[in-house]
Amino acid sequence: MEKMPYREELDMRVSPGIDESVVSTDWRSGLPALGGRMVTLRDLRASDAASLFAMLTTEEVSRFISPPPTTVEGFEKFIAWAHRQRQAGEYLCFAVTVKGFDTAIGIFQVRDLNSCLDTAEWGFAIGSPFWGTGVFEDAANLVIEFAFDTLGVRRLEARAAVQNGRGLGALLKIGAVQEAVLRKSFEKNGRQLDQILFAILERDWRMAGGPPKEVRRAHIH
Ligand SMILES: CC(C)(COP(=O)(O)OP(=O)(O)OC[C@H]1O[C@@H](n2cnc3c(N)ncnc32)[C@H](O)[C@@H]1OP(=O)(O)O)[C@@H](O)C(=O)NCCC(=O)NCCS
Repeated sequence: MEKMPYREELDMRVSPGIDESVVSTDWRSGLPALGGRMVTLRDLRASDAASLFAMLTTEEVSRFISPPPTTVEGFEKFIAWAHRQRQAGEYLCFAVTVKGFDTAIGIFQVRDLNSCLDTAEWGFAIGSPFWGTGVFEDAANLVIEFAFDTLGVRRLEARAAVQNGRGLGALLKIGAVQEAVLRKSFEKNGRQLDQILFAILERDWRMAGGPPKEVRRAHIH
Protein backbone atom coordinates (compact mmCIF):
# COMPACT_ATOMS: atom_id res chain seq x y z
CA MET A 1 0.00 0.00 0.00
CA GLU A 2 2.21 2.78 -1.22
CA LYS A 3 -0.73 5.12 -0.75
CA MET A 4 -1.55 5.44 2.92
CA PRO A 5 -5.34 5.87 2.98
CA TYR A 6 -4.98 8.35 5.84
CA ARG A 7 -4.79 11.99 4.74
CA GLU A 8 -3.99 14.39 7.54
CA GLU A 9 -5.38 17.40 5.72
CA LEU A 10 -8.79 15.70 5.35
CA ASP A 11 -9.05 14.63 8.97
CA MET A 12 -10.68 17.39 10.99
CA ARG A 13 -12.28 15.21 13.68
CA VAL A 14 -11.29 15.08 17.31
CA SER A 15 -10.49 11.64 18.74
CA PRO A 16 -13.49 10.23 20.65
CA GLY A 17 -11.10 8.54 23.12
CA ILE A 18 -10.79 4.82 22.60
CA ASP A 19 -11.08 2.48 25.60
CA GLU A 20 -7.94 0.39 25.15
CA SER A 21 -8.76 -1.85 28.09
CA VAL A 22 -11.38 -3.64 26.01
CA VAL A 23 -10.14 -7.04 24.83
CA SER A 24 -12.40 -8.74 22.37
CA THR A 25 -12.31 -11.46 19.78
CA ASP A 26 -14.02 -8.96 17.43
CA TRP A 27 -11.15 -7.16 15.74
CA ARG A 28 -13.33 -4.10 15.17
CA SER A 29 -13.42 -3.52 18.95
CA GLY A 30 -9.68 -3.93 19.37
CA LEU A 31 -6.90 -5.86 17.67
CA PRO A 32 -5.49 -8.91 19.42
CA ALA A 33 -1.77 -9.00 20.15
CA LEU A 34 -0.04 -11.48 17.84
CA GLY A 35 3.23 -13.02 18.89
CA GLY A 36 5.81 -14.25 16.39
CA ARG A 37 9.40 -15.44 16.68
CA MET A 38 10.88 -11.92 16.87
CA VAL A 39 7.97 -9.51 17.04
CA THR A 40 4.71 -8.77 18.78
CA LEU A 41 2.04 -7.02 16.77
CA ARG A 42 -0.58 -5.06 18.69
CA ASP A 43 -3.14 -2.32 18.27
CA LEU A 44 -1.82 1.21 17.89
CA ARG A 45 -1.87 3.48 20.93
CA ALA A 46 -1.81 7.28 21.01
CA SER A 47 1.52 6.98 22.84
CA ASP A 48 3.09 5.34 19.73
CA ALA A 49 3.02 8.68 17.91
CA ALA A 50 6.51 9.82 18.91
CA SER A 51 8.32 6.58 18.03
CA LEU A 52 6.42 6.17 14.75
CA PHE A 53 7.29 9.76 13.86
CA ALA A 54 10.97 8.98 14.50
CA MET A 55 10.91 5.65 12.62
CA LEU A 56 8.75 6.40 9.59
CA THR A 57 9.53 9.98 8.55
CA THR A 58 13.14 9.44 7.45
CA GLU A 59 13.95 9.92 3.78
CA GLU A 60 14.85 6.27 3.19
CA VAL A 61 11.63 4.94 4.72
CA SER A 62 9.27 7.43 3.09
CA ARG A 63 10.98 7.56 -0.34
CA PHE A 64 8.47 5.30 -2.11
CA ILE A 65 5.34 5.69 0.01
CA SER A 66 2.84 8.52 0.30
CA PRO A 67 4.06 11.17 2.74
CA PRO A 68 3.56 10.16 6.38
CA PRO A 69 2.36 12.79 8.89
CA THR A 70 5.03 15.42 9.44
CA THR A 71 4.64 15.92 13.21
CA VAL A 72 4.09 13.83 16.33
CA GLU A 73 0.66 15.46 16.59
CA GLY A 74 -0.03 14.37 13.01
CA PHE A 75 0.74 10.77 14.01
CA GLU A 76 -1.62 11.11 17.00
CA LYS A 77 -4.39 12.11 14.59
CA PHE A 78 -3.48 9.22 12.28
CA ILE A 79 -3.74 6.77 15.21
CA ALA A 80 -7.16 8.15 16.22
CA TRP A 81 -8.27 7.89 12.58
CA ALA A 82 -6.99 4.28 12.39
CA HIS A 83 -9.07 3.38 15.46
CA ARG A 84 -12.21 4.90 13.93
CA GLN A 85 -11.61 3.08 10.65
CA ARG A 86 -11.14 -0.20 12.53
CA GLN A 87 -14.40 0.34 14.43
CA ALA A 88 -16.11 0.91 11.08
CA GLY A 89 -14.63 -2.38 9.82
CA GLU A 90 -12.91 -0.76 6.86
CA TYR A 91 -9.24 -0.77 7.83
CA LEU A 92 -6.87 -1.86 10.56
CA CYS A 93 -3.32 -1.05 11.51
CA PHE A 94 -0.97 -3.12 13.68
CA ALA A 95 1.98 -1.59 15.48
CA VAL A 96 5.15 -3.67 15.13
CA THR A 97 7.17 -4.11 18.32
CA VAL A 98 10.26 -6.24 18.94
CA LYS A 99 9.48 -9.03 21.41
CA GLY A 100 10.12 -7.90 24.97
CA PHE A 101 9.94 -4.19 24.09
CA ASP A 102 6.84 -2.03 23.79
CA THR A 103 8.16 0.62 21.39
CA ALA A 104 6.40 0.75 18.01
CA ILE A 105 9.02 0.46 15.26
CA GLY A 106 6.69 0.14 12.28
CA ILE A 107 3.18 -0.49 11.05
CA PHE A 108 1.24 -3.02 8.96
CA GLN A 109 -2.00 -1.73 7.44
CA VAL A 110 -4.86 -3.74 5.90
CA ARG A 111 -7.63 -2.03 3.97
CA ASP A 112 -10.91 -3.53 2.74
CA LEU A 113 -11.20 -3.17 -1.05
CA ASN A 114 -14.67 -4.55 -1.74
CA SER A 115 -16.82 -3.85 1.35
CA CYS A 116 -16.85 -7.50 2.46
CA LEU A 117 -13.12 -8.01 3.09
CA ASP A 118 -12.98 -10.69 0.43
CA THR A 119 -10.26 -8.64 -1.22
CA ALA A 120 -7.97 -6.45 0.85
CA GLU A 121 -4.82 -4.44 0.31
CA TRP A 122 -1.96 -4.36 2.76
CA GLY A 123 1.02 -2.11 3.23
CA PHE A 124 3.88 -1.84 5.67
CA ALA A 125 6.73 0.36 6.79
CA ILE A 126 9.44 -0.44 9.33
CA GLY A 127 12.13 1.83 10.77
CA SER A 128 15.36 1.37 8.80
CA PRO A 129 17.45 0.24 11.84
CA PHE A 130 15.33 -2.94 11.69
CA TRP A 131 15.65 -3.61 7.95
CA GLY A 132 17.27 -6.89 7.01
CA THR A 133 16.84 -8.29 10.54
CA GLY A 134 13.98 -10.74 9.90
CA VAL A 135 11.46 -8.47 11.65
CA PHE A 136 9.61 -7.83 8.38
CA GLU A 137 9.19 -11.50 7.44
CA ASP A 138 8.06 -12.50 10.93
CA ALA A 139 5.50 -9.68 11.13
CA ALA A 140 4.32 -10.22 7.54
CA ASN A 141 3.55 -13.89 8.18
CA LEU A 142 1.50 -12.96 11.25
CA VAL A 143 -0.52 -10.42 9.28
CA ILE A 144 -1.10 -12.82 6.38
CA GLU A 145 -2.38 -15.47 8.78
CA PHE A 146 -4.60 -12.92 10.55
CA ALA A 147 -6.01 -11.70 7.22
CA PHE A 148 -6.91 -15.20 6.01
CA ASP A 149 -7.95 -16.83 9.28
CA THR A 150 -9.60 -13.96 11.17
CA LEU A 151 -10.64 -11.35 8.61
CA GLY A 152 -11.75 -13.90 6.00
CA VAL A 153 -9.69 -12.29 3.24
CA ARG A 154 -9.29 -14.45 0.14
CA ARG A 155 -7.09 -12.18 -1.93
CA LEU A 156 -4.47 -9.95 -0.33
CA GLU A 157 -3.10 -7.32 -2.71
CA ALA A 158 -0.04 -5.10 -2.44
CA ARG A 159 1.34 -2.39 -4.67
CA ALA A 160 5.00 -1.38 -4.80
CA ALA A 161 6.72 1.22 -6.97
CA VAL A 162 9.06 -0.40 -9.51
CA GLN A 163 11.94 1.67 -8.07
CA ASN A 164 11.30 0.29 -4.56
CA GLY A 165 13.81 -2.58 -4.64
CA ARG A 166 13.50 -3.51 -0.97
CA GLY A 167 9.69 -3.41 -1.14
CA LEU A 168 9.66 -5.68 -4.20
CA GLY A 169 12.24 -8.04 -2.69
CA ALA A 170 10.30 -8.18 0.58
CA LEU A 171 7.03 -9.07 -1.15
CA LEU A 172 8.61 -11.72 -3.37
CA LYS A 173 10.33 -13.46 -0.49
CA ILE A 174 7.06 -13.97 1.41
CA GLY A 175 5.40 -15.54 -1.61
CA ALA A 176 3.48 -12.64 -3.15
CA VAL A 177 2.95 -13.16 -6.88
CA GLN A 178 3.54 -10.37 -9.38
CA GLU A 179 0.39 -9.94 -11.48
CA ALA A 180 0.61 -6.68 -13.40
CA VAL A 181 2.31 -3.38 -13.93
CA LEU A 182 0.08 -0.42 -13.06
CA ARG A 183 1.52 2.24 -15.30
CA LYS A 184 1.94 5.75 -13.86
CA SER A 185 -0.34 4.82 -10.96
CA PHE A 186 1.51 6.50 -8.09
CA GLU A 187 2.60 10.10 -7.78
CA LYS A 188 5.68 10.88 -5.73
CA ASN A 189 7.35 14.30 -5.63
CA GLY A 190 5.65 15.34 -8.85
CA ARG A 191 6.70 12.15 -10.70
CA GLN A 192 4.25 9.51 -11.94
CA LEU A 193 5.69 6.11 -11.00
CA ASP A 194 4.74 2.65 -12.27
CA GLN A 195 3.75 0.14 -9.61
CA ILE A 196 3.78 -3.64 -9.53
CA LEU A 197 0.53 -5.26 -8.39
CA PHE A 198 1.18 -8.32 -6.20
CA ALA A 199 -1.33 -10.71 -4.65
CA ILE A 200 -1.32 -13.63 -2.25
CA LEU A 201 -4.35 -15.92 -2.56
CA GLU A 202 -5.70 -17.62 0.53
CA ARG A 203 -6.15 -20.81 -1.52
CA ASP A 204 -2.48 -20.88 -2.56
CA TRP A 205 -1.34 -20.07 0.98
CA ARG A 206 -3.35 -22.97 2.45
CA MET A 207 -2.17 -25.36 -0.30
CA ALA A 208 1.41 -24.39 0.56
CA GLY A 209 0.73 -25.42 4.18
CA GLY A 210 -0.32 -22.12 5.79
CA PRO A 211 2.04 -20.17 8.01
CA PRO A 212 5.65 -21.26 8.44
CA LYS A 213 6.06 -23.48 11.54
CA GLU A 214 7.67 -20.77 13.64
CA VAL A 215 4.65 -18.53 13.06
CA ARG A 216 2.12 -21.09 14.27
CA ARG A 217 1.36 -19.64 17.65
CA ALA A 218 -1.42 -18.64 19.97
CA HIS A 219 -2.75 -15.11 20.10
CA ILE A 220 -1.40 -13.45 23.21
CA HIS A 221 -4.94 -12.27 24.00
C1 LIG B 1 9.43 -2.80 2.88
C2 LIG B 1 10.10 -3.10 4.20
C3 LIG B 1 9.05 -3.19 5.32
C4 LIG B 1 10.80 -4.46 4.10
O1 LIG B 1 11.53 -4.73 5.28
P1 LIG B 1 13.08 -5.16 5.16
O2 LIG B 1 13.55 -5.54 6.50
O3 LIG B 1 13.81 -4.12 4.42
O4 LIG B 1 12.91 -6.47 4.24
P2 LIG B 1 13.88 -7.68 4.15
O5 LIG B 1 15.31 -7.25 4.32
O6 LIG B 1 13.41 -8.77 5.05
O7 LIG B 1 13.62 -8.15 2.65
C5 LIG B 1 13.96 -7.34 1.57
C6 LIG B 1 14.54 -8.22 0.50
O8 LIG B 1 14.73 -7.41 -0.67
C7 LIG B 1 16.05 -7.61 -1.12
N1 LIG B 1 16.47 -6.38 -1.78
C8 LIG B 1 17.10 -5.32 -1.25
N2 LIG B 1 17.30 -4.38 -2.19
C9 LIG B 1 16.78 -4.85 -3.32
C10 LIG B 1 16.71 -4.35 -4.64
N3 LIG B 1 17.19 -3.14 -4.95
N4 LIG B 1 16.09 -5.11 -5.57
C11 LIG B 1 15.60 -6.32 -5.26
N5 LIG B 1 15.65 -6.86 -4.00
C12 LIG B 1 16.24 -6.12 -3.06
C13 LIG B 1 16.85 -7.92 0.11
O9 LIG B 1 18.06 -8.59 -0.22
C14 LIG B 1 15.88 -8.80 0.88
O10 LIG B 1 15.87 -10.14 0.44
P3 LIG B 1 16.72 -11.29 1.22
O11 LIG B 1 16.31 -11.25 2.65
O12 LIG B 1 16.31 -12.55 0.53
O13 LIG B 1 18.16 -10.93 1.04
C15 LIG B 1 11.14 -1.98 4.58
O14 LIG B 1 12.21 -2.00 3.64
C16 LIG B 1 10.52 -0.60 4.59
O15 LIG B 1 9.90 -0.22 5.59
N6 LIG B 1 10.67 0.17 3.50
C17 LIG B 1 10.12 1.52 3.43
C18 LIG B 1 8.62 1.51 3.35
C19 LIG B 1 8.13 0.88 2.05
O16 LIG B 1 8.72 1.05 1.01
N7 LIG B 1 6.98 0.21 2.16
C20 LIG B 1 6.25 -0.26 1.01
C21 LIG B 1 6.67 -1.58 0.57
S1 LIG B 1 5.60 -2.15 -0.74
